Formats: sequence, C-alpha cells, structure tokens
Amino acid sequence: MELAQNYNYKIVKQFAVATVVWGIVGMLVGVIIAAQLAWPALNLDIPWLTYGRLRPLHTNAVIFAFGICGLFATSYYVVQRTCQVRLFSDKLAAFTFWGWQTVILSAVVTLPMGFTRGKEYAELEWPIAILIAVVWIVYAVVFFGTLLKRKVKHIYVANWFFGAFIIAVTLLHVVNGASMPASPWKSYSAYSGVQDAMIQWWYGHNAVGFILTAGYLGMVYYFIPKQAERPVYSYRLSIVHFWALIFTYMWAGPHHLHYTALPDWTQSIGMVFSLVLLAPSWGGMINGMMTLSGAWHKLRTDPILKFLIVSLSFYGMATFEGPMMSIKTVNALSHYTDWGIAHVHGGALGWVGFITMGSIYYLLPRLSGRTEMWSTRLIDLHFWVATIGIVLYIAAMWIAGVMQGLMWRAVNPDGTLTYTFVEGVKATYPYYVVRFGGGLLYLSGMCLMGYNTWMTLRDRVTATARIPVLAAGHA
Ligand code: HEM
Ligand code: HEM
Repeated sequence: MELAQNYNYKIVKQFAVATVVWGIVGMLVGVIIAAQLAWPALNLDIPWLTYGRLRPLHTNAVIFAFGICGLFATSYYVVQRTCQVRLFSDKLAAFTFWGWQTVILSAVVTLPMGFTRGKEYAELEWPIAILIAVVWIVYAVVFFGTLLKRKVKHIYVANWFFGAFIIAVTLLHVVNGASMPASPWKSYSAYSGVQDAMIQWWYGHNAVGFILTAGYLGMVYYFIPKQAERPVYSYRLSIVHFWALIFTYMWAGPHHLHYTALPDWTQSIGMVFSLVLLAPSWGGMINGMMTLSGAWHKLRTDPILKFLIVSLSFYGMATFEGPMMSIKTVNALSHYTDWGIAHVHGGALGWVGFITMGSIYYLLPRLSGRTEMWSTRLIDLHFWVATIGIVLYIAAMWIAGVMQGLMWRAVNPDGTLTYTFVEGVKATYPYYVVRFGGGLLYLSGMCLMGYNTWMTLRDRVTATARIPVLAAGHA
C-alpha cells in the first residue's frame, strides 16, 4: 500500500547546501593554516590572520559548520522518513537553521578577533555559547517531538544514534560551558586547575564520541542500506554496539591528559576504557561493511557507495589507532607530535568527511526532484582526488609525528639532548609541504562537490516534495 506524505524537505535542503558551503570554507582555512605551518610568513603580520586565531576558526568551521550542518540535514531527513511523519514543527526547525547559521557567523567574526574561552572545541564566548544551548534544546524538541508523533511503532536504529548525539551534546556543552562572564566578550571557567582540565577533556573526547562518531553512525545505518539496497547486516549487533559505545565513550577522556597532574589512576581508567572502545567501534564498522554482502560489485560503478564504504574503513582505522595511542607508553611517543594530527585527520577527512559527502550526494537529487546528481563522473573524480589527498595528508603526518617523537626523546651518552627543538622543526618542513598538497587535493574535491551541487539544484523542482512512501517497513 502506498501513502502520499508531506515531508519538510526545505529544511533538509537548507542544511545540505550549508554543509557544502561551510565544507569549502572550513577546508580552505585548513589549507591556509597548513600553508602557514610550512611558510610562516603567510601570517602576513596581520593579527586576524595569525595561525593561533585561524586554527580554532578551522576546527570550528569543519566540526560545527560542515560537520553539524550535515548532521542536521541527515537527521531531519532520516527521522521523517523512518517515522513516516512530517517534522514536529516547521517553525522550530527553521529556527534551528537560522540560529545555527548565526552561531557559525559569530564564530567567523569573533575567533579571528581573538575572543576565545581558550578551551579547545569550546572556544566560543559566553553569549554565543548560550545561543548554542538554545538552538540545541530546540533541535531536541523538533527531533524527539517527531519521534513521539511517529506512525511506525518501532524506532529505527539510526534515530537512536542521532538521539544519543543530541542528548549528549546538550549535556557536554552545558557542563563544560559553565563559566563566569567578566565582560561581554570575556568569561572564565567555573572550574579550576586539574578539575577544569578533566572536564574539558571529558567534553573533548565525547565531542569525538558523540558528534564525530554517534551522529555519523546514524548516517551509516540509514544511507548504506539505502544506497546498497540491502538490509542492515545484523540489527541485533547495531543495538548491542550502540549501548556499548555510549557507555564506554563517557570514561575515556583522561587519555588526553596522560602524564599530567591528573591522578594516575584516572589516567589508567581512561586508558582501559579506550582499549575496550575498540570492540563497539569495530562492531559498527563490521556491521556497516557486511551490509554490502552480496552487493560488493556495486562498488565498481557507484561512487556514492564508495564514499560510504571507504568512510567505514577510515573509521575502523582511526578506532584502532586511537586505542593504541591511549596506551601510556605509546602516548609518551605520540603526544604533542604530528602523529595526533594524522589520527585526527584520518578520522576527520576519511570517516567524518566521506560519510557526510556520501550521504549528502544521496540526498541532494532526492531533495530536488531528480533521480541522480548532475554528474556521476564528477562524484567519482571527487572520490579519487579526495582519497589521494587523505593518503598524502596522513602518511606525511604519521612519518613526521614518529620522527618528532624519536628526535625529542633521543639523548647522548652524557644525558644531554641529541637534537635541539628547532632541528625537529626543520626536519618536519618537507612533510608540512606534502600535507599542504594533500589538503589542497581534498579541498579541490570539495569544490567539485560544490559545483555539482550548484548544477543539480539549478533546475530544482520543488522545495517541499509530496512523495510516495511505502507504508510498511522503514522508509
Ligand atoms: C582540506 C582539508 C584540511 C586541511 C588541509 C586541514 C589542516 C589542518 C591543520 C594544518 C591543522 C593544525 C595542525 C597542527 O596544529 O599541527 C588542523 C587541525 C585540526 N583539524 Fe583539520 N584540516 C582539514 C580538514 C579537516 C576536517 C574536514 C576536519 C573535521 C571534520 C578537521 C578537523 C581538525 C581538528 C579537530 C584539528 C585539531 C587537531 C588537534 O588539536 O589535535 N580538519 N587541520
Ligand atoms: C576507539 C576510538 C578512539 C580512541 C580510543 C581515540 C583515542 C585518542 C587518543 C589517545 C588521542 C590522543 C590524545 C593525546 O595524546 O593528546 C586522540 C586524539 C584525537 N582523536 Fe581520537 N580516538 C578514537 C577515535 C577517534 C575518531 C573516530 C575521531 C574522529 C575524527 C577522533 C578524533 C580525535 C581528535 C580530534 C583528537 C585530538 C584531540 C586534541 O588533542 O585536540 N578519534 N584520540
């Protein structure tokens, strides 16, 4: 039996386009700071363009603008399709779009001006932090309100992941954001000393766990089965690894603070939970990959599926590497080095970037009444350019990182250091140039996506589509 159903596609399309636009901006800033590390003169002696101010602009733009707009777009689409109802409130959904764009624009202005709380990934000053909290609570109302009025009894697993992401981010943001304003653009953390550090990295690691992981697993569980036209490999595994993942992530934060003033037992707990985290992470990775059973041949011809599946291999890689880096003796070598940057970007470019791009490529034609993107060959080109870019980026940073760690710890027989710090910096130079090249390729791929998006949407058909959905099963 077929039903005609009215969905709010306008909001999904707005967030999808914002994802592409902010992706280009955030990655461009990434390429600029990568260039500054190789050629510091590019600071141009202009305070707004200094590395220290552009770096947080990059992380905020890629995570909060590119990453979270992608999560808004996909979660609003998936919750409507799998619950077979329109969003709980169009007005509130529109508020989340404009509210979130205001947050992003405020970041674009205040970070280069040097306004910051000085907490990584939580830099935005208190007036913006309050707006974030308001938008987020409204997001929760729209998402869970839609779940409540669903026409399907079962709550499909993708919504569990999106729901956990929304709840956890509210909790993390509010607790870590507690601070005392001293002026309109300056505030001080409510916590001090080692407690402040612990809360910051409880927040930081769970930003990885719930923004950069749980939300994107929501995409995995909807878009991979859809694109592969296969059911999820094991629905039971998806539920088991969901609970294991959200329970375990919460405890792993101290691995960011090894060998600091944090009590030693706390660091060990962080390490142990990080090692345990390998299992639920790989549960998700394997479940996603195996969903392709019997459909592997589609990878030859379907570039969207390539994005989605290769993203899972990068997820598997980052979630193997992370537990290894959390072992204290390994961390003694990797911490402070570019190995960390390799790990971050394996996850960020390979996992977060690719799953988002694949999902948005899936969505765009459906939002504009077309059967496919304007050019499939351009999607394929994007995939290859970006993949080569990632390989160059992370291979350069792995080599640089291990080299730095070994140089810093090398001592002569008399106990003096073998290398001065600046010798390490000089030795890193070629790798920074290679990373810049890799980043440039990745950004070029994003620009191809921008062009393809523009051409696809140019002759749009409808904003709010009336489309048939199957009454039975998950749409
Ligand atoms: C064209 C693509 C990109 C380039 C060239 C690039 C470049 C950079 C550079 C040069 C840094 C500073 C490294 C350092 O301090 O030594 C950085 C940091 C960072 N980038 Fe990117 N990036 C790109 C894309 C992304 C994306 C898509 C994400 C997330 C989805 C991301 C997330 C981060 C994070 C979280 C950090 C901070 C890492 C840390 O503090 O350990 N980047 N990036
Ligand atoms: C089992 C899962 C994972 C574990 C146990 C883990 C563990 C770690 C460890 C030990 C560090 C280095 C901490 C330090 O020396 O300062 C780190 C850094 C980081 N990881 Fe992971 N990781 C995991 C998965 C991921 C994934 C999937 C991403 C996605 C992009 C990611 C993003 C990051 C970021 C952004 C940092 C840098 C934080 C900072 O210092 O600014 N991690 N992770």
